[in-house]
Amino acid sequence: MSDLRREWRDLAPEWIREEREGRNPTRRGLLDPPVIAACGDVAGIRALDCGCGEGRLCRILAARGARCVLGLDTCEAMIAAARELQGSVDEYRCADVQDLSFLPEGSFDLAVSYLNQCDLPDFEANTREVFRVLRAGGRFVVANLHPMRSAVGHWLKDEEGEKRHVVLDRYFDEGERQWRMMGCPFTNFHRSLQTTIRGFLGAGFALLDLIEPSITPENLRAYPELADELRVPNFIVYALRKPGA
Ligand SMILES: C[S@@+](CC[C@H](N)C(=O)[O-])C[C@H]1O[C@@H](n2cnc3c(N)ncnc32)[C@H](O)[C@@H]1O
Repeated sequence: MSDLRREWRDLAPEWIREEREGRNPTRRGLLDPPVIAACGDVAGIRALDCGCGEGRLCRILAARGARCVLGLDTCEAMIAAARELQGSVDEYRCADVQDLSFLPEGSFDLAVSYLNQCDLPDFEANTREVFRVLRAGGRFVVANLHPMRSAVGHWLKDEEGEKRHVVLDRYFDEGERQWRMMGCPFTNFHRSLQTTIRGFLGAGFALLDLIEPSITPENLRAYPELADELRVPNFIVYALRKPGA
């Protein structure tokens, strides 16, 4: 097992617990609304979720009327957890999303990557593969760490512990970054905005929209712990389209 897979195996129990208890405010409070909006009307469609985790987004797409949803993840514990809540239209498979050769060309209307490309050593391989398995006119919605945060990430604080500003450094030094999440070490991959956009365009996608989610006044009342989202972007959402239809 590679180190990257081992990291997710170790993280999985706490990740699944947190998701099931709805303890992560950045989901409902920040990222879900723009991701769901970027997916458009999903009624009757065939959807692919790359790096589906314990299947939360697959269940959301199924509840919104998708005809079938396939969730892929390399972590067996995540796939097992997703299968526990599996309904009639969603199914799950252990697979590396950088190689989708087991899926036929043009077989999906929508693909989603919700905080998964930051985990991939080769996001361009995933992008090329998704392009191939989408039908012409199909969409690819990618939610990722914002490149200004994946570069360094931490806040500079004053002597009283007040946050002064986020540190931005090593922006052009692309590659691995080591973090800690839920008490476990894990690896992410930082890429500049230029590299990301060129990867999407190079695969053949058209960029429909780019969203930098911030917190609405209503969601700030519900999730006051997200107040920093008014200061700096943590995430970014790309809405891509395979041309041709
Ligand atoms: C940050 S979690 C996001 C999970 C899910 N999309 C969500 O929003 O709850 C990233 C997921 O990507 C999976 N992953 C990492 N590398 C992968 C790869 N090469 N192929 C498929 N899944 C991968 C991890 O196992 C983990 O479940």
